[in-house]
Amino acid sequence: MSGTSLTGVRVREAAPHEYERVADLVELGFRHGPYGHLPVSAARTALVRDSAGRAAAGALLVAVDAAPGLTEESEELAALLGTASLLRAGAPGTRLAQSGEVELRLIAVDPAARGRGVGETLVRASLDVAAQMGAEAVVLDTGSLNLPAQRLYERVGFHRQLDRVPANLGGPGSPDAIAPLVYRYTLPRHP
Ligand SMILES: CC(C)(COP(=O)(O)OP(=O)(O)OC[C@H]1O[C@@H](n2cnc3c(N)ncnc32)[C@H](O)[C@@H]1OP(=O)(O)O)[C@@H](O)C(=O)NCCC(=O)NCCS
Repeated sequence: MSGTSLTGVRVREAAPHEYERVADLVELGFRHGPYGHLPVSAARTALVRDSAGRAAAGALLVAVDAAPGLTEESEELAALLGTASLLRAGAPGTRLAQSGEVELRLIAVDPAARGRGVGETLVRASLDVAAQMGAEAVVLDTGSLNLPAQRLYERVGFHRQLDRVPANLGGPGSPDAIAPLVYRYTLPRHP
């Protein structure tokens, strides 16, 4: 797919040769997040490093600079600004998605590229890709301390789900153990 742009940012599926870099970017992004000081569980590290598995479970998206005049080739060589994973219900790494839902996980933006709309572009592109996957809705969870993420999801139109709790949260000390807030975005129906 080829996505969209708020501010000269293009979102596309990651190429296999980028999978290692995508995993590095997720780790970097979360180290510079509100839970970056906490130890990371082995299960979470395995999920983060398994970019190929996440791509196979739905879609592994990356955001890259798409300045006017840049060829696709130079976009490929440019730095990855951010990433997001879309996982079908039942896939490894899901903890919320039910039938008909796609789960958005591991969205992360390079700390040097934050505050310019990369995160919002990734979330909006994720909604488009989930719709192409035939989903009715996108679900996700975030930590109660993750205020930038909450503002982002609410700005795009996600709604808090007070009655839903993610399954399979990580063990003590894992960032996953933080009080989760669940969000859902209902995709428009297409005839
Ligand atoms: C959450 C995260 C993905 C947001 O990424 P981002 O690229 O900074 O997101 P955006 O740029 O779209 O929005 C961030 C802020 O910049 C603002 N912004 C966006 N474009 C802007 C622009 N062109 N000029 C000025 N400000 C801008 C937004 O309004 C927003 O402001 P707010 O936080 O005060 O509401 C990023 O902080 C991150 O990687 N965090 C660590 C990992 C993480 O926690 N992931 C979420 C797990 S649930």
